[in-house]
Amino acid sequence: MCGIVAFTGNKDAVPVLLGGLFRLEYRGYDSAGIALQNICAAPANTIPAGDLQAGRAQAAQTQPAHQPQPGGSQAVGHPPLHIIKRVGKVAELRKALEDAHLSGAFYTGIGHTRWATHGAPSEANAHPHCDCSQTIAVVHNGIIENYAQLRQELQGAGHRFVSQTDTEVVAHLIEQEYQVAPGKLMQAVRRTVARLSGSFALAICHSAHPGQLVVTRNDSPLALGTCPDGAIAASDTPALIEHTRQVYYLNDRDLAVLHQNGHIEFFDPAGTPSTPTAVTIEWDLEDAQRGGYADFMLKEISEQPRVIKDTLAGRLDASQGRLLFEELALSHQELAAADRVVIVACGTSYHAGLIGKDLIETWARLPVEVEVSSEFRYRNPLLTPQSLVIAISQSGETADTLEAVKLARRAGAHVIALTNVVGSRITMEANEVILIKAHLEIAVAATKSFLAQVALLTLLAMHLARQRGQACDKQVLDLYRHMQQLPIQISEILANTTSIERCAQECSHAQTALFIGRGVGATTCYEGALKLKEISYLHAEAFAAGEIKHGPIALINPDGLADPAAQTPVIAVACKSATYDKMLANIEEMLARGAKVIALATVGDARISELTPHVIFIPETPECLSPILASVPLQLFARFIAVARGANVDQPRNLAKSVTVE
Ligand code: G6P
Repeated sequence: MCGIVAFTGNKDAVPVLLGGLFRLEYRGYDSAGIALQNICAAPANTIPAGDLQAGRAQAAQTQPAHQPQPGGSQAVGHPPLHIIKRVGKVAELRKALEDAHLSGAFYTGIGHTRWATHGAPSEANAHPHCDCSQTIAVVHNGIIENYAQLRQELQGAGHRFVSQTDTEVVAHLIEQEYQVAPGKLMQAVRRTVARLSGSFALAICHSAHPGQLVVTRNDSPLALGTCPDGAIAASDTPALIEHTRQVYYLNDRDLAVLHQNGHIEFFDPAGTPSTPTAVTIEWDLEDAQRGGYADFMLKEISEQPRVIKDTLAGRLDASQGRLLFEELALSHQELAAADRVVIVACGTSYHAGLIGKDLIETWARLPVEVEVSSEFRYRNPLLTPQSLVIAISQSGETADTLEAVKLARRAGAHVIALTNVVGSRITMEANEVILIKAHLEIAVAATKSFLAQVALLTLLAMHLARQRGQACDKQVLDLYRHMQQLPIQISEILANTTSIERCAQECSHAQTALFIGRGVGATTCYEGALKLKEISYLHAEAFAAGEIKHGPIALINPDGLADPAAQTPVIAVACKSATYDKMLANIEEMLARGAKVIALATVGDARISELTPHVIFIPETPECLSPILASVPLQLFARFIAVARGANVDQPRNLAKSVTVE
């Protein structure tokens, strides 16, 4: 969940590393750090590595000094690495770098922005981490599961530790291995990696290997490529696209050595040279920039009309009344033989899966289970070779979803991955991949990727129905025609946000907010409540409206009957649907107990306005497509509240965009 950038080349590495870290800040933002190879002479006012690492001096006093083996250090005569770390955001690191007045040319370095797992956010725990002699610096994304045992062993051998992190063992292990075969950095990293269990993406530099970086990965993302001025690696593509569109992805435990002239050597875990194939990234730099919007979330919400258009493009064969899913190799017979569908996902992607379930069961008449990946992977789920597993992950890197995919594959099930990221881990693990067309999403809270997932699942559900003989041409064409209206309808919602903003202002001081809906409306509520709590920190819960009488209605503050300021906000999704009348009854029940009901209703609905003055209207669409439209005002509602409460919309506290650890 942390962000890694590594660069070596023929230009100043600092702007490349900092620029990359800013673009990766959505991956973690507790603390940040950088290590630079001091190719030029150190200016008098910069401080070498050890002194900048809080705690190191103290640790040196309390722990036995590790004695490097004779001839082990090749760093003799090489200038020390410069390491600067700061607690807080990348802007703090940039300021520290400015204050350090580094002069000269630092052509090679590694950078990191952290999402704390082992040890609180502090300078000592911030990356890069070093070995005892401070000739080796390591940045890491993931979790080294056997770190405690390795740390004990290394401490026993005299290595001094200065942080509470799992990562520090890597630097000391490389130091130990390097002493066995001095001068062979890649081999030392390779032997180190063989001893690590867990997930990791690592970038390593050594002061005795100027202009060289070693990178490796296991169950954690890392992409790398040659750029006009050198070679670059990063944990995620936004840090790369400014420099190269041709990227390589390493297999688990493979290694790469990046050279200053842009050459990259690849090795398999045995150290044998390998030749991976480059993949072209289609996103452009504009996707990674805010482009005049106040925040990425607003930009991404605004891009949703285009996302739906892109999702629909090329999916219809109108002459045959068929939807086109050419990426699916499953034959007609295999689809007909499928006994059930299991959808696995986390967070917002899980909510998209719940909507997918409704549509697949309704149209394709196939039983569907939806399960959060973190539960699924630790059960003994019922899977057969006839089970069709759909794994949904925007990032394609969510650790629990990846494990769920592996489990399903081991059980013989056929796995289709829905992801937004070309070359992501899930694309390597699944049998088949369908790419959603959301383009790069940077705000931590998923918005446009959710709409893209739901739109794609809608098409996929109809495709399955057609393949299984449960839907005719007309149904396919009708659905597609209605979906073609969605981009215009979303644009209409985006063009007039006054009522959404007014409702948000009315609720921004609330302690808690409830969301209620029925059918796909209930699922829309689950996602609406998640958006609100994750970015505004206002406590929010969603319920199927029929369930409120079984508990949640007790949460309505009765003082709201006499005092509008005490009213508990209840957001009710009450678009035209088969259960519309039931929803009105539920709204009345909430109003009768003093709630402030904010209703999402279909334009032209006069009945709802008689019940509550707080109505947000959305354009008319069939019930099956209503989550796509209704989610847009709920995203904006959450964002308006977050802004009113002064929260950082793009980088909510404690969260990260892709959760690459369990
Ligand atoms: C994190 C993000 C969520 C996302 C979830 C699943 O929690 O903050 O926005 O929905 O991970 O991510 P995935 O990439 O697998 O869809």
